[in-house]
Amino acid sequence: MTGHLPRHVAVIMDGNGRWAGQRNLPRRVGHWEGMKAVREAVEGALETGVGILTLYAFSTQNWSRPAEEIEALMGVLQSFAERERRNLAREGVRVRVLGEVERLDAPSRDAVRRIVEATRDGDALLLNLMISYGAREEIVGAARALAEAARAGLLETDSIDEGTFRSALLTGSVPDPDLLIRTSGEMRISNFMLWHLAYTELYVTPVLWPDFTRDDLFAAILDYQRRERRFGRVTAG
Ligand code: IPE
Ligand code: IPE
Ligand code: MG
Repeated sequence: MTGHLPRHVAVIMDGNGRWAGQRNLPRRVGHWEGMKAVREAVEGALETGVGILTLYAFSTQNWSRPAEEIEALMGVLQSFAERERRNLAREGVRVRVLGEVERLDAPSRDAVRRIVEATRDGDALLLNLMISYGAREEIVGAARALAEAARAGLLETDSIDEGTFRSALLTGSVPDPDLLIRTSGEMRISNFMLWHLAYTELYVTPVLWPDFTRDDLFAAILDYQRRERRFGRVTAG
């Protein structure tokens, strides 16, 4: 692919339930199908040379879904980690899992630990899986950590700036996404990386997540390449 590439692409993987509903199948079938689309997105990112792919897999608010759906989603996570660990390591993909990992059940936490460990040396693509993640919760956590550091005398309140705030975030080491893709046509952010999305280019596709292919990723990147990013300034010339 020619033209300037987004360095960091983030995806709100949405529409699994509707995909299943259209086929009169239980929602969990949509979640299982969504795993194929994750493979597509990873291969597309490797092919284009995008450096960082961040996938929103499970939000803090998703814990309010019925227990059987949560169980299915945890099963998909475990199965993905099991099936993909070796492939991803071979492809040079480094996996990180960001979110309230301590809320996951023991088998899921184990699966996460194994995939992170097995892929730690990957340098072709950084894959951030956002699991039990919520941006407001993350921002509140950062505020609390900074307040505690100030109270303990480790931090001057005057020294708190964007840099210190960002580094107090759970995702402090994750750069801002250049491009955010949301599938299934919903025009909303749903508590995803609110801090980082300040100047991210947004792309919404009607494609439901299980139908997402690398061509959909390429289409989003091509659209991004036609955008003019201004960051509040005026256009040169
Ligand atoms: C995305 O698909 C997966 C998660 C949010 C965990 P949904 O399950 O939200 O599917 P829809 O939006 O109901 O179609
Ligand atoms: C956002 O999708 C969360 C993930 C994709 C993990 P949701 O389906 O949970 O979001 P809403 O409820 O449509 O806003
Ligand atoms: Mg949804």
